[in-house]
Amino acid sequence: MVLSVLNFMNQKVFFSLCFFCCSGASLLASHVGERLYMQKCSHCHGLKGEQSVFETSAVIQGWQIDKTLQALHGYKDHSYGSTKKGVMKVIVARMDEKSIEDVATYIENLK
Ligand code: HEC
Repeated sequence: MVLSVLNFMNQKVFFSLCFFCCSGASLLASHVGERLYMQKCSHCHGLKGEQSVFETSAVIQGWQIDKTLQALHGYKDHSYGSTKKGVMKVIVARMDEKSIEDVATYIENLK
């Protein structure tokens, strides 16, 4: 009896640990995206992506990940952009693939 109670408790601890780790990992990913966005993007695009920069850029708030990735990769390889694309080119050139994906994921969740 004591043994089965202990077993039960162990299982509970095991599952809550699992849960903690999984949610911790995704929290961490979105946290990285948030930090990147706040440091590198928000002063132009707005805290929530709600601003059009220099009246040139689209409002990027809530853009789907694929759409943002396409734009950012395009700025990087010079296949995308309008009159002010030079601004974005410089920014994206300094970002690695992981950071680009993290920030794109964060932007999709901006409301
Ligand atoms: C110095 C201001 C500035 C900063 C900082 C900046 N952007 Fe931009 N962004 C612009 C401008 C200006 C454009 C429009 C460029 C053009 O003419 O194509 C733009 C365009 C974009 C677009 C495409 C919008 C469209 O109109 O098609 C995306 C997506 C984007 N930025 C994401 C980001 C992300 C992500 C960051 C941070 C890593 C960032 N930007 C940082 C100024 C900025």
